[in-house]
Amino acid sequence: MPGALRQFAIQYPPLLERGMARALLRRFRAAPWGVGLVLLAPLVIAACSGDPYPQSTLHPTSDTGRAIDALYRQIFWWAVAVFVVVQTALIVTIIRFRNRPGAAEAKQIHGNTAVEIAWTLAPAAILVAIAIPTIKTIFQVAGDAPSGAVQIEVIGHQWWWEYRYPELGVVTANELHLPQGRPVALAISSADVIHSFWAPKLSGKRDAMPGRITRLVFTPDSVGTYLGQCAEFCGPSHANMRLRVMVDTPQAFDAWVAHQTAAPVAVDSAQAMILAGEAAFKKIRDPANHSCIVCHTMAGVSGGVAGPNLSHVGSRTTIASGLLPNDSAGVARWLRDPVAEKPGSLMPKIDLTDDEIAALVAYLQSRN
Ligand code: CUA
Repeated sequence: MPGALRQFAIQYPPLLERGMARALLRRFRAAPWGVGLVLLAPLVIAACSGDPYPQSTLHPTSDTGRAIDALYRQIFWWAVAVFVVVQTALIVTIIRFRNRPGAAEAKQIHGNTAVEIAWTLAPAAILVAIAIPTIKTIFQVAGDAPSGAVQIEVIGHQWWWEYRYPELGVVTANELHLPQGRPVALAISSADVIHSFWAPKLSGKRDAMPGRITRLVFTPDSVGTYLGQCAEFCGPSHANMRLRVMVDTPQAFDAWVAHQTAAPVAVDSAQAMILAGEAAFKKIRDPANHSCIVCHTMAGVSGGVAGPNLSHVGSRTTIASGLLPNDSAGVARWLRDPVAEKPGSLMPKIDLTDDEIAALVAYLQSRN
């Protein structure tokens, strides 16, 4: 408790009753403990958590992710050691060599060769100890993909992700499927501005730049759904440029590929709603010539490439770059006003009737 406050509380009984002054004193004496507890609370609460951090780099699930994490932990403990040594020296110095009343003037010294050499060499040695594993990890992470790696082109768009598997003939959006235990080689680029592909639990982040290819190579080791998102500011809906990585068992991955490359489900002439939806999908709308088919590929129907490929859109769990669930309500909401859902969306608001929206929802959901 500050001395001035104590003086005030004790010396001004006309302003503060004695009892009140004592209560105040007690309160201020307790204050540092209170502040300490409040500061500690987040640590305690964090320790109780299971896995509330779906985008934490501290829980890696791939070979390169673990290599980066191991390096991080190594450097963290070096930093802890440096912190402890420096702070201990500082505190000991402050206490031991503090000025005492009546003490003689301290001995004045200048320079000490042994100390100078020691505190030059010690940090240099620590930096070398950090540099060796760092350089090793950089080469490990940036190495070439092993033969047999699944080749995937990742293309950033404002504001969604396109994934192409050239060897497998699959084109999809926003939800990247990978086989567990097989190396994958991502070739990352952009169709417009600079984005950055980042699925923190799987691997490091890589910028997606137009006209240039960056690479990310890793082997996912655990089945699951991993969240990620664009990590480079790219316009009004940067924060809405989410992504999901589904790591499947090898069998499930093969089944997914077979499903994605299968011929489109034929529209049954008895399915009036789906037929109406297909008609609405193809309709050219004056005066701006807006139409779904201008921007979207739908196997057997259209070949637009400005927007996500919708050939098997019904098989995805979310739409609009993870913004909405891929259910009737989510799709209807998106079709009603994409720009309201995703500010700046290149998909414009088109005046669709409620009947058209219902038909389009039925059609898109049937395209799985
Ligand atoms: Cu794309 Cu930020």
